[in-house]
Amino acid sequence: QQVIGFTIAPQVLQVLFICILFHRLQVGAVIAVVMVSVVIFSVYSVVVAQWKNRIRRVMNEAENRVSEKAVDSLLNFETVKYFGAEQFEVDRYSHNLGEYQEATLRTQMSQGVYFTGQNFVVTIGGAIAMVFASQQCFRGQITVGEWVMIQGYLGALFGPLYHLGNNYNTINQSMTDMENLLALRELVPEVRDVPAAPPLNISEGRVEFRHVWFNYGKDSTGKLVDVSFQVEPGRFLAIVGPTGSGKSTIMRLLLRFYDLERGEIFVDGQNIAHVQQTSLRKRVGIVAQDTVLFNDTLEYNIGYGKPDATTAEISAAARAAQLGS
Ligand SMILES: Nc1ncnc2c1ncn2[C@@H]1O[C@H](COP(=O)(O)OP(=O)(O)OP(=O)(O)O)[C@@H](O)[C@H]1O
Ligand SMILES: [Mg+2]
Repeated sequence: QQVIGFTIAPQVLQVLFICILFHRLQVGAVIAVVMVSVVIFSVYSVVVAQWKNRIRRVMNEAENRVSEKAVDSLLNFETVKYFGAEQFEVDRYSHNLGEYQEATLRTQMSQGVYFTGQNFVVTIGGAIAMVFASQQCFRGQITVGEWVMIQGYLGALFGPLYHLGNNYNTINQSMTDMENLLALRELVPEVRDVPAAPPLNISEGRVEFRHVWFNYGKDSTGKLVDVSFQVEPGRFLAIVGPTGSGKSTIMRLLLRFYDLERGEIFVDGQNIAHVQQTSLRKRVGIVAQDTVLFNDTLEYNIGYGKPDATTAEISAAARAAQLGS
C-alpha cells in the first residue's frame, strides 16, 4: 500500500501532466509514439514479470529444499552416523545446492531480460518520438526551444515509467517470495481453545477417559474405539499392546494434540477440551520413547519444562533420576 501511495501514484500523475502538455504543443505524432510506447512497456512488463515469477518460484522451491536437507540431516545426525551415511548426505546436499545455484542463475537471467526489454522499449520509443519532433521542427511547426523542451519532457516521462516498471517488479517479486508464508498464515489450527477458556486447575491429578472415540482421519488405520478408564491420584497405569495399537495416541490425546471424535477426557473433573491448552501441557510431565537433549547444560535440559525451577529443585530431580550426586 505504501509503495502504491508514495511512489506509483505520483508517477502516474506525472505521465498524465506531460501528456496534457504535449497535447497543447500540438505534437500529435509524439503523443502517439509515447502512448504506444507506454502500452508496449506495460504489456511487456506484465507478461515478462509472470514468466519471471515462474522462474523465481522454482528458485525459491530449490532454496527451501536446500535448507530442508540441511536441517533434516543435522537433526538426525545420529541416524546418519549409525548408517555411515555422511557422504550420502553431503552428496544429497551438494546436489540440491547445485540445483539452487542453477535456479539462481536462471532468475538473474530472467531479471536481465526483463530490464533489457524495458530499456529497449523506452530507448526506441524516445528515439522515434524525437525523430517526429525534429521533422516538425524542420517544417517550422515548433520552435527549436520547444524541441529541446520536448526532449526534456520525454526524459522526465520515460524516467518515471522505468521506475514504475521497477516498482512493479519489486512488488511482484515480494509477493512471489511471500507466497508460502501467506498460505501458511491462512491455515487455522484444528485444536483451538474455546473462548474465555479457564486454566486447568490440578489438585490431585485424577485422570479419566470416558467413552473416547478417535481416529487420525478417514483413511487412517489408527483408531480408538470407546476407550474408558480411570487413573486415581498417585497410582500407576501401564498400557500394554502391540505396536500401532494406540498407546502413544492415548498420551497425545491426554495432551490434547487432537480433538476427540466422541467422548471426554477429564483431569481432576475438568474436561480438557474446555481449558487452556497451554495450562494443560504445562502440568503434564512426559518422558518420551526417544529422548533428546538440547545442546546446553544438564541443568537447562532438566529445567526445560519449568523455566522458574530453582537449582535445588533441579538437583532433586536429577537425584530422583539417578543422575545427580
Ligand atoms: N499422525 C498420525 N496420522 C495418522 N495415523 C497415525 C498418526 N500417528 C499414528 N497413527 C496410526 O495410529 C495407530 C496408533 O499409533 P500409536 O503411535 O498410538 O501406536 P503405539 O501403540 O504407540 O505403537 P508403538 O508401540 O509402536 O509405539 C497406528 O496405526 C499408526 O499408524
Ligand atoms: Mg508409541
